[in-house]
Amino acid sequence: MKKVYVGMSIDLIHPGHINVIKEASKLGKVTVGLLTDKAIASYKRLPYLTYDQRKIVVECIKGVDDVMTQYTLDYTDNLNEVKPDYVVHGDDWRVGSQASVRKKVIDTLKEWGGELVEIPYTEGISSTQLHENLEGIGTTPNNRLKRLRRLIEAKPIVRVLEVHNGLTGLIVEHLEVNNDGVVSEFNAMWSSSLTASTAKGKPDIEAVDMTSRIADINEIFEVTTKPLIFDVDKWARTEHFSFIVKSLERLGVSAVIVEDKIGLKKNSLLGTEVTKTQDSIENFCQKIRVGKEAQITDDFMFIARIEILILGQGLDDALTRAQAYMDAGADAIMINSKSKDPEEIFKFCEEYGSLNMPVPLIVAPSNYNQVYEEELADRGVKVVIYANHMLRSAYPAMRAVAKSILKNGRSYDSEDQCISIKEMLNLIPRTR
Ligand code: SPV
Ligand code: MG
Repeated sequence: MKKVYVGMSIDLIHPGHINVIKEASKLGKVTVGLLTDKAIASYKRLPYLTYDQRKIVVECIKGVDDVMTQYTLDYTDNLNEVKPDYVVHGDDWRVGSQASVRKKVIDTLKEWGGELVEIPYTEGISSTQLHENLEGIGTTPNNRLKRLRRLIEAKPIVRVLEVHNGLTGLIVEHLEVNNDGVVSEFNAMWSSSLTASTAKGKPDIEAVDMTSRIADINEIFEVTTKPLIFDVDKWARTEHFSFIVKSLERLGVSAVIVEDKIGLKKNSLLGTEVTKTQDSIENFCQKIRVGKEAQITDDFMFIARIEILILGQGLDDALTRAQAYMDAGADAIMINSKSKDPEEIFKFCEEYGSLNMPVPLIVAPSNYNQVYEEELADRGVKVVIYANHMLRSAYPAMRAVAKSILKNGRSYDSEDQCISIKEMLNLIPRTR
């Protein structure tokens, strides 16, 4: 019997998948190469179902004889192992990010006289369309919560953007940029204490209370499905932790970031311009333990944020703290720097890798913003947070229009700086 290989993601199973498998099984014994989350996330969004869930589904599909793991988008390793007579795929991969993968499959098959068979694309249904429909329906708190850990596992680097209301949440949810066939998107949201406060005209000193911050999250969650990391400042009272953790977890927030400072909270980017005091390692480790004890699911993450470089102190201290915080149970470490030069952070990354069992490393390059995501990922950073950019870009745009109205005594002159009324009416689904 001839050997047939079919590479697939099999997330939201639809008639298009079944058709490909049906046609493949007419040619011989079908092995499905099931792509891992990592392989899928390398070129499109993370699947809804985990690898193990997808495997259970695919094993039960009629016509599938065998399932093997495909670790990369590239088929070469699996093809060399199976040496199939045929590879079967939908013909939609001739263009876009998979075109080069397709070419490599053809070249590899040539080595033993194998053949690529392409099945005409099933019109009217696609995973992308199903994903869009699902986004319209929404998500559950539990599904959203879990997603951050899955992204950290699957992505070379998780890209997070600041949000401070439903509208900014929609930007993270829907914006995509096609970079030479690879679709880039933001993977998660950051609820920043700085922009949550600034948007309300208040200073970033924990003056906006938790009820108000949670109301913001509710508003954002109503219109999005992506995971969110919550900036909880320094959590003044350890006694309050368990209540905050439980409220956030119940909503579906994936992680809290807690900074190791004490006293009146002041924003980190002020550097040493204002007095800030570092917490002791013992105290902060106690906070971590209380936070970890309060969570209900294993998926929620406590991210310990090290402020020592912000306070202009040494790398050695930062590393000692990182190890202590991890040992106390932190699920990830955020290292903050006020320097305009990324060297300090790069040095930290280098040393961090040799600590005992390092957890994922997170940065927010607000000052050293010349650094590319790839440079961070190469140094082991797992999450990059663009911590304040939606608010910082909106404010000058709004102010310029307000100024123009005052200057001209009418709004006509600032019209080209605004979206049209028609665009605004089409911006939000179901406005009409
Ligand atoms: C925030 O966005 O509120 C932060 C990150 O805490 S930073 O301002 O970069 O310290
Ligand atoms: Mg903050």
